[in-house]
Amino acid sequence: MSTDIERTPSEHSDLAAPDSPVPDPGVEEHAPRFTDVDERAAERAYRQIVGMLAAVPILVIGFLVAYFAVPRDAELMLFGANLKMQNTLLGLTAGLAALLIGVAAIQWARVLMSDEEIVGERHGAASPPEARERVLADLETGIEATTIRRRKLLGSGMAGALGLMALPAVVSLADLGPWPTAAERAKTIETTLWAEGVHLVNDVTYRRLKADELEVGQLVNAEPENLQKLEGTAYQQAKAKAAIIIVRMDPNAIRIPESRKDWQVNGILCYSKICTHVGCPISLWEQQTHHLLCPCHQSTFDLGNSGLVVFGPAARALPQLPITTDADGYLVARSDFTVPVGPSFFERDSSKDFQEGDR
Ligand code: FES
Repeated sequence: MSTDIERTPSEHSDLAAPDSPVPDPGVEEHAPRFTDVDERAAERAYRQIVGMLAAVPILVIGFLVAYFAVPRDAELMLFGANLKMQNTLLGLTAGLAALLIGVAAIQWARVLMSDEEIVGERHGAASPPEARERVLADLETGIEATTIRRRKLLGSGMAGALGLMALPAVVSLADLGPWPTAAERAKTIETTLWAEGVHLVNDVTYRRLKADELEVGQLVNAEPENLQKLEGTAYQQAKAKAAIIIVRMDPNAIRIPESRKDWQVNGILCYSKICTHVGCPISLWEQQTHHLLCPCHQSTFDLGNSGLVVFGPAARALPQLPITTDADGYLVARSDFTVPVGPSFFERDSSKDFQEGDR
């Protein structure tokens, strides 16, 4: 290829600054590649590149099938490792598609596009009109050199492959979770495993807790007994919402509002363990003040006053779980929490949260 800005070595020597210690050697002589001299080799390379781009739609379809059809819990043994099948397939298909596009682009540039060097001399910041025309001419030459006008399938193949790669990104948005309709919220974020008659068990020993075994000042981390029936992700999700702390305080030293008289057993009160700020688990308990401190951002809740916030960024009281005892004296829940536990979310109705002054 020749352009009007190419220079021969001797021309470059002439252009070198007069005080330059080394003469400009100019551009090396161009060595043609096998695809420059052998049209059949160029055709072969062309077909290889198109073949790689053609595999991308298949891999994208594979990604979509893996996303929608492979169960999330399915597992796969690979090289002795136990992997999640869906994640593995998503990674393989999307990764291979991106790799093929990259390899096709590199191969296209290496063997089909022109590899002759073009030298542009520097001028002042404002280019003269001839230079601009020359740039446009070079641009035109460059486009011609990509062979995109002759081999139209390359351009559309690359554009199509890159466009299709947007699909995996778009469908992955579904992993943000289901659309939070009222019905969806009611069966997920606004509900926990707690229900009438569910026993409170120690979250280390899983033993049921007897009311008369707890001492004043004691704090116990606990969970619902029915949590043990769950496994895997379902277990983790349920535990994250249902975790509680049980504290026993002197009933005469705390304020128990009228509406919550039967939510406690002789000063034994039960609260969500999940901070209402951004959801850290809390159990830094100050016996004397009845304060519970969140280690993340220091929100402090008064467990002797219905879990109201006394300090820090949390905006809502810690949800209290209504409890009672069964016939044998073991602690059981009276119901689920009456408000959603954990951090706020856009659709959350805060009107039922306990406020200062509520009776
Ligand atoms: S998460 Fe508890 S204060 Fe921020």
